[in-house]
Amino acid sequence: MASAIRYVTDVDLGLTVVADVFINGSFVAAEQATVSVFERGFLLGDGVYEVIPVYAGRCFELAGHLNRLENSLAGVKMTNPYRDDEWEQLIDTLIQRNGGGDQALYMQVSRGAAPRDHVFPEGVSTSVFVMTNPLKPVSEIVKEHGIQAITLVDTRWQRCDIKAISLLPNSLLKQEAKEAGAEEALLIRDGFMTEGSASNSYAVFDGVVYTAPKDNTILPGITRDVLLSLAREAGIIVVEEAVAESKLSEADELWVSSSTREILPITQLNGQAVGSGKVGPVWQKVDALYQQMKKRAAQ
Ligand code: PDD
Repeated sequence: MASAIRYVTDVDLGLTVVADVFINGSFVAAEQATVSVFERGFLLGDGVYEVIPVYAGRCFELAGHLNRLENSLAGVKMTNPYRDDEWEQLIDTLIQRNGGGDQALYMQVSRGAAPRDHVFPEGVSTSVFVMTNPLKPVSEIVKEHGIQAITLVDTRWQRCDIKAISLLPNSLLKQEAKEAGAEEALLIRDGFMTEGSASNSYAVFDGVVYTAPKDNTILPGITRDVLLSLAREAGIIVVEEAVAESKLSEADELWVSSSTREILPITQLNGQAVGSGKVGPVWQKVDALYQQMKKRAAQ
């Protein structure tokens, strides 16, 4: 019998709820997975996570994601429950159980179940949850026409370098963008663009790519690392300097990047055309290189 497509949910494709997940040491059907109501991830948003794109059954840039997970865990004073080779084995098993192919893998480590208290509990083991969802390809329409974005004040905390599960500020910002008819919000802190609500952001002026440097105000994106090195190898100048909000309307191109949405060109910002209002040549070049790299990684 041909193996069924085993995805958690896909409303668009109408797929059945039959995926497996990994929860605290076991692989179980998603609908059978349970967590304690005292779990600090649930009560306090006390945990960290990763999202890794999977192409043809293989994780893209796994080492970078595991390294960032380690940094996030250290940032919230939690011990990594697994060595990298253990993570790798666990992740591979789940990908295969869920049918391989292209998936978005979500992994979360939270501080564990304990009576509610702001202070960390002692002697409690962390909770580990891993799931996969279908990874939808970026639509050709988006690649041809770009997306709309708006600018919003960056209302987040001072440790945006930690990939924390407490995403309420990001969620509020993204929702505000959606309600304004935009796909993403470009965030402004002290007059400069930090990143998107769920992405890193870039501005191109005269062929030079500018993006905020890695510090506490942005998440060090794995897609950002990949695209900056591809751009540099191709001879494109990259400057890791935050762009002033006042300069954004003069940019020739604006982009955002993330593991699930790749590199997206923004063609309208706050209702005004970005540059020519069309997808720009520097984005086209970098996206083509990114697509080639994805293809090689899937082989
Ligand atoms: N988010 N900045 C923020 C605030 C993000 O949430 C993300 C990704 C990025 C891009 O990082 P990367 O290239 O490593 O995906 C930057 C993921 C996809 C999410 O929360 O679902």
